[in-house]
Amino acid sequence: MKRVLKMTIEFNRIMFNLKRGYYRYIGSGSGRQVFDLGNGYVIKVARNRAGIAQNMCEYKISFNDDSDLFAKVIQASNDFDLLIMQKAHKIYNISYVFEYFNVASKRELFNLEELQSIKRRYNLLLDDFDRKSSWGMINGRPVIIDYGFTREVMERYY
Ligand SMILES: Nc1ncnc2c1ncn2[C@@H]1O[C@H](COP(=O)(O)OP(=O)(O)O)[C@@H](O)[C@H]1O
Ligand SMILES: [Mg+2]
Repeated sequence: MKRVLKMTIEFNRIMFNLKRGYYRYIGSGSGRQVFDLGNGYVIKVARNRAGIAQNMCEYKISFNDDSDLFAKVIQASNDFDLLIMQKAHKIYNISYVFEYFNVASKRELFNLEELQSIKRRYNLLLDDFDRKSSWGMINGRPVIIDYGFTREVMERYY
């Protein structure tokens, strides 16, 4: 079977299960709702055009990036209203991220070369990266889980 067709069927199955409440709801932001697929991945469901744009950005960044700073995207639907990403464990305090990167403040965190570099490369707005909801834990390391908010997305949709 053609890959695209297979993928469509898979996303239809996920939507079917979602509507029946099979997946645990994790949380939502202005653009997307996030559910636990129960297999180590989450699904991000766009609620509006801003959410679609953010899914598209996360898809592009994940496939271009080699920094290990981001939870990886494994698949997106054709129209980007659905995105499948590695599930991260919840972070209960942002100080955990500060400790990991050995910084003492938001300013120091944002000034790290790693963060400055992704800001430059992807035009990412760092503003939310001092919030615990932007980060999660995968394999004992903090990773960024909400990285669709680029300058273009902000100017266009907010
Ligand atoms: N990969 C993930 N693993 C676990 N939780 C996630 C993941 N991605 C997002 N979340 C959680 O889901 C909620 C909403 O997701 P988010 O990406 O922030 O949506 P939005 O960009 O619309 O604000 C947040 O509370 C976030 O912590
Ligand atoms: Mg968010």
